[in-house]
Amino acid sequence: MFGQGLIGLLVATLAAFYYLYGQQSSRASLYESSSEVRDEIETVFLETWRDYSLHGWSYDVYSPLSHSHRNMPRSGDPMGWIIVDALDTMFMMYNGSTTHRNELLKDILEVQVWIDNQLSYNIDAEVNIFETTIRMVGGLLSAHYYSSQLEMGNPDIYLNKAVDLCDRLAAAFDTSESGIPYSSVNLRTGQAIKNHVDDGASSTAEFTTLQLEFKYLSFLTKNDTYWKLAENVYPALYQSNKLLDAYHGLAPIYTYPDSGRFMGQNIRFGSRGDSFYEYLLKQYLFTHEKLYYDLYRQSMEGMKRHLIGKSRPSGYTYIGEKPFGLTGSLDPKMDHLVCFMGGLLAMGATEGYPIQEARKKALWDSQREEDWKLAQELTHTCYQMYHQTPSGLAAEIVVFNDGRPIPDNAWLSPSGDFYIKPADRHNLQRPETVESIMFLYHLTKDDKYRQWGYEIFSNFVKHTCEVLDDSHNIYLSLKDCVSLPTIKSDNIESFWLAETLKYLHLLFQDDVDLTKVIFNTEAHPFPVLDVGQLRELGLKTGWSP
Ligand SMILES: *[C@@H]1O[C@H](CO)[C@@H](O)[C@H](O)[C@H]1NC(C)=O
Ligand SMILES: *[C@@H]1O[C@H](CO)[C@@H](O)[C@H](O)[C@H]1NC(C)=O
Repeated sequence: MFGQGLIGLLVATLAAFYYLYGQQSSRASLYESSSEVRDEIETVFLETWRDYSLHGWSYDVYSPLSHSHRNMPRSGDPMGWIIVDALDTMFMMYNGSTTHRNELLKDILEVQVWIDNQLSYNIDAEVNIFETTIRMVGGLLSAHYYSSQLEMGNPDIYLNKAVDLCDRLAAAFDTSESGIPYSSVNLRTGQAIKNHVDDGASSTAEFTTLQLEFKYLSFLTKNDTYWKLAENVYPALYQSNKLLDAYHGLAPIYTYPDSGRFMGQNIRFGSRGDSFYEYLLKQYLFTHEKLYYDLYRQSMEGMKRHLIGKSRPSGYTYIGEKPFGLTGSLDPKMDHLVCFMGGLLAMGATEGYPIQEARKKALWDSQREEDWKLAQELTHTCYQMYHQTPSGLAAEIVVFNDGRPIPDNAWLSPSGDFYIKPADRHNLQRPETVESIMFLYHLTKDDKYRQWGYEIFSNFVKHTCEVLDDSHNIYLSLKDCVSLPTIKSDNIESFWLAETLKYLHLLFQDDVDLTKVIFNTEAHPFPVLDVGQLRELGLKTGWSP
């Protein structure tokens, strides 16, 4: 009796010891041994891709549980929504992979054949200019970049397709006098179409998130048409609204395309506002046009002055919203989309140099030091949005606790700093938090960021994966990331492949030089352009505010 009990106790102690230490050392070694983690990420990518090629191939929208699928345009023709968006992730993984190279090579060549022979943008249907630019033009241009750099396949196929598509989108710019295109265009007829809702107003972030793609295309084709079209949206926006004086660089989220005037006063860094700010900084980093850094600077000073809040009780920093203009009160609501701001502020402060180096450069000043601090705080806040939920995955929208009453039907985080409303409990496997974590890791080399990223990746694997009958894995959006088990939805977003898994993979790469590459808002990488070459081509800023 006694002996058995003792042996039992011993076994239990040993097991607990083994569990604790075995577990800890394998976890620690995992996020330190980067090639093993990259391998895991590649496996998840390839499982997702395998299922799509088997049951959804060529379709723009795919539901992995029911195997149902459709295309984006009403005409029924494919845009390459998933294929083109995912392609450069395959190139990137191929370049860094130790175990999946052959598999990825085969997939890449298959995609090239499909794009070359099956994909045509001569489609008689209206498409959204912004989404088409960031996903399709962006994806084709970065595929062109990788294909030429890695000398794999035929880069011309991607460039020609991008030119053809961009020429079709360019038709939409002729229609309005302000230079701001309507939201959509018919790819065959070139007819531009206003937004069907919101009184015809465009989202401000839509027409201010085309510039990297159009400018890169001008550079590659040596034709300044695209550059000028994309830049021509700014004068009306800045001048007719007195954006710098009246709004401190913070743009309301709707704009009438004919006049360039804002509709309403709703200011936020979440949906419809976000990438307006992102593309100001990224144009500067991409082409070194100083004007865009100055505009970005003004917007960031406006943001720091008007939109920053601290949660109770822990004092997490967040970016709130001003639904009634700058003089209205701060709404402590934050979309997960806002989580890209940690990475953006960090890149704006350092211009891609590791922080120790950046601090020694002439560019460094107190505003950048402030931005850098804010970048770290926001990234920590976004990590907490994952870490504190039961699944370890973040909801689409959270509301921070600013001392006002918390609704009875909301889920309150364990620390009490934020809550999630019933309608906001979904998770679309979005990239913004791992994006910021990736930037901060490479700028600091602080292992904490790899730990956070690995935790999030593990929770995606644990809580968004469904094992099908034939024992293959699929990964799904969640209807609810707060209940356990999580409630899944029959949906997958192309940005899971294009962005989330790409940024995770980049987090675990060891030689990422952030001064050399710029990511468009859909995570498609472009090489930073050479100032001398731009000058030779006559590509330069064509306006001032
Ligand atoms: C491919 O990988 C090598 C080695 O890591 C790296 O130096 C190079 O920049 C990568 N190429 C591209 C186009 O990313
Ligand atoms: C530049 O591109 C525009 C738009 O596609 C086209 O109309 C024009 O002919 C091109 N210019 C040159 C010099 O190729």
